[in-house]
Amino acid sequence: MRVLGLETSCDETAVAVYQSGSGLLGHRVYTQTDLHEIWGGVVPELASRDHVKRLLPMIGATLRELDLAARDIDGIAYTAGPGLIGALLVGAAAGRSLAMAWGVPAVGVHHLEGHLLAPRLEAEAPEFPYLALLVSGGHTMLVDVRGVGAYQVLGESLDDAAGEAFDKTAKLLGLSYPGGAKLAALAESGQAGAYVFPRPMLDRPGFDFSFSGLKTAAWLALKDLPVDSSARADVARGFEDAIVDTLVTKAGRALKVTGRKTLVVAGGVGANRRLRSALTEMASRHGARTAYPRAEFCTDNAAMIALAGHARLVAGERSDLRVLARARWPLAELRPPGI
Ligand code: KG4
Ligand code: ZN
Repeated sequence: MRVLGLETSCDETAVAVYQSGSGLLGHRVYTQTDLHEIWGGVVPELASRDHVKRLLPMIGATLRELDLAARDIDGIAYTAGPGLIGALLVGAAAGRSLAMAWGVPAVGVHHLEGHLLAPRLEAEAPEFPYLALLVSGGHTMLVDVRGVGAYQVLGESLDDAAGEAFDKTAKLLGLSYPGGAKLAALAESGQAGAYVFPRPMLDRPGFDFSFSGLKTAAWLALKDLPVDSSARADVARGFEDAIVDTLVTKAGRALKVTGRKTLVVAGGVGANRRLRSALTEMASRHGARTAYPRAEFCTDNAAMIALAGHARLVAGERSDLRVLARARWPLAELRPPGI
């Protein structure tokens, strides 16, 4: 079965083709960051309009590049949620309509299921079950992944996502959106320990996170510093260390409680170098290994949506003729394919 995957839940337009037996045949991603940068964040209406402009040409280009025609596609997987409703509707309407026109089934995929299964795009795919730390601009979650559609959310952020906290603090530092990677680069020249920020929720049991107070602490440290002060790098370092420490400690507790031997890290913040090395070191102390999907599969992409949709379509799952789009969609509602 050859599945066309479409992703338009936020500010990336992405298309992929995934095939039984061979895996990913090809994928492309267009990121709208330049469009949103001057606004300091994603503007939903601009995002939807840009998806409208790019999606169909990108589908055409992907099929041409793979030397495939419409008749070679056996099913369509589109991101149905969660995400920005207008943006989701573009991919959902396109996916549902093309499936109707081509006479093939379609399935609406949960965006986070895509992220959780993304490491399975790699040659050395981790075996189920595994623990996943999903850290992106929109989500921070620890999930016990027992199989496709069998997810237990152990904990999540009660307020800002880790990426959101990085981006908001980066903005306070005068760095342009999205500032996570820029903050991390600035932190390289900062001195560890010069600023020590709180590690939110570490003193509480459970696996939930809270990052909004940390951003406020960074603001308090920054507000009296001159714009050109080198201490700004120290603040960036203190902030990064607090986030990394919090994520690593909670992930460590989750490894201990679940006894899982693989920790998968997904989402854009998973690109953070300091986070990666601290997680790997912590995991080895627990006799576990870390698995990171390639950067292109960590950030939003359609390859993960095609893979997740493929698993559901081969099991006979189909969405009905409605254009399925849900801004909110709890992961706990998912069931294994065909159930
Ligand atoms: O998963 P992702 O690509 O997309 C969405 O959530 O939409 O994650 C993007 C997030 C942004 O908040 C970005 O600032 C953050 O990941 N990010 C980083 C780094 N690279 C990207 N945060 C910290 N350190 C990095 N190196
Ligand atoms: Zn995402």
